[in-house]
Amino acid sequence: MQDLSPRTIDLEPIERASRDEIEEVQLERMKWSLNHAYKHVPLYRQRFDEAGVHPGDITELKDLARFPFTVKDDLRKTYPFGMFAVPLPEVKRIHGSSGTTGKPIVVGYTQNDLNMWADMVARSLRAAGVRKGMMVHNAYGYGLFTGGLGLHAGAERLGCTVVPMSGGQTERQIQLIQDFKPDVIVVTPSYMMTLLDEMERLNIDPRSTSLKVGIFGAEPWTEEMRREMEQKLDIHAIDIYGLSEVVGPGVACETVETKDGLHVWEDHFYPEIIDPVTGEVLPDGEEGELVFTSLTKEAFPIIRYRTRDLTRLLPGTARSFRRIEKITGRNDDMIILRGVNLFPSQIEEIILGIPGLTAQYQLKLKKNGRMDSLDVLVECREVAQGEQDRHTLAKQVKGRIKDVIGVSVHTEVLLPLSLPRSEGKAKRLVDLRNG
Ligand code: DLL
Repeated sequence: MQDLSPRTIDLEPIERASRDEIEEVQLERMKWSLNHAYKHVPLYRQRFDEAGVHPGDITELKDLARFPFTVKDDLRKTYPFGMFAVPLPEVKRIHGSSGTTGKPIVVGYTQNDLNMWADMVARSLRAAGVRKGMMVHNAYGYGLFTGGLGLHAGAERLGCTVVPMSGGQTERQIQLIQDFKPDVIVVTPSYMMTLLDEMERLNIDPRSTSLKVGIFGAEPWTEEMRREMEQKLDIHAIDIYGLSEVVGPGVACETVETKDGLHVWEDHFYPEIIDPVTGEVLPDGEEGELVFTSLTKEAFPIIRYRTRDLTRLLPGTARSFRRIEKITGRNDDMIILRGVNLFPSQIEEIILGIPGLTAQYQLKLKKNGRMDSLDVLVECREVAQGEQDRHTLAKQVKGRIKDVIGVSVHTEVLLPLSLPRSEGKAKRLVDLRNG
């Protein structure tokens, strides 16, 4: 792997500022953002009034804890444009998150918001080792989903050549990677695995491609997956995080020189970690639910938004901004199996620790009488296709899950290419309990 660490001189001054300087910027912007939301969004005005708080009450950053949370349901209730804080003609772009049921969450951006977003994605790409003049193959979906257009604008802002491939057409993706020779690929980690399968099917050595960096996000992935992708593709595998409600990709990103969690671009997005049950703010270092307040957004200010993502806040390393630990799960993905809490990522870790298995797996939650049961389906590598091998591997997975997580599951090791392939965000968990 090539050394792609950025030169200090290329960083923005705020990325190297002291904590005091960062907090001064944050406080000033927080006051503006709360005022802006209060003045222009009826839901915020009503909520703040009900809670007996006013934007003028903010004298230090931790005063934010007195303000009420915003949750996904608030955004559903105000569908489509009820959370917008500027007149519609000033909204230059609309995005939305698909949501598993019913109406999407709709978000909007003014021209200033689009500029800030492109700047933050450009900052993320630079942190990931991307430079002006590199070619970026963008396989995130284009459309209402923020992945495609978000990465696109940021890569252009950094001065890259963008290939706007979007998701799908797997064979064509590989052909263009072979022909155009991009330096960087941006894609969900599960679709990267699909692309890897396709390269293997076409007898292309993944280490022989021109790719130097892969920037993976939009869904959880583990350190084991990083090792697998770095080794198989001879690239730096970098984690990027974001969500539509805050801005899309580019809220936080890892740096290529440390790969030790994701630096949050705190001059625009203020993070808190709360206890998901009591709502109390937790000190840095403790695990809980990540909450964001936008500090500069005009069209869609978001105040104390509960992301449902679980992580912890850590001090800065390669940058002055604080980091979040790699996100391993969401509140909503947590499976409670006969009293034991577990996340799909824990299963992924176990599977990838066993030679002979691949990262293609799916979990099926079922009801057996009054008890819930979990089926773990995973594909084997070609070398382990024999029936006896697969039987042994299945027993091994079952045993490891019992030892590490403390719960019994049913395991099945399938032949290569048995499970559905992801072209975007993978559906790791299928809940078959109701019907
Ligand atoms: O997934 C934005 C995005 C696009 C991020 C491309 C990175 C790359 P949504 O569709 O609104 O937005 O989904 C947001 O996806 O709350 C997390 O649960 C999950 N997520 C996003 N990035 C990561 C990551 C985009 N790096 C939701 N690790 C978030 C783990 C992630 N989960």
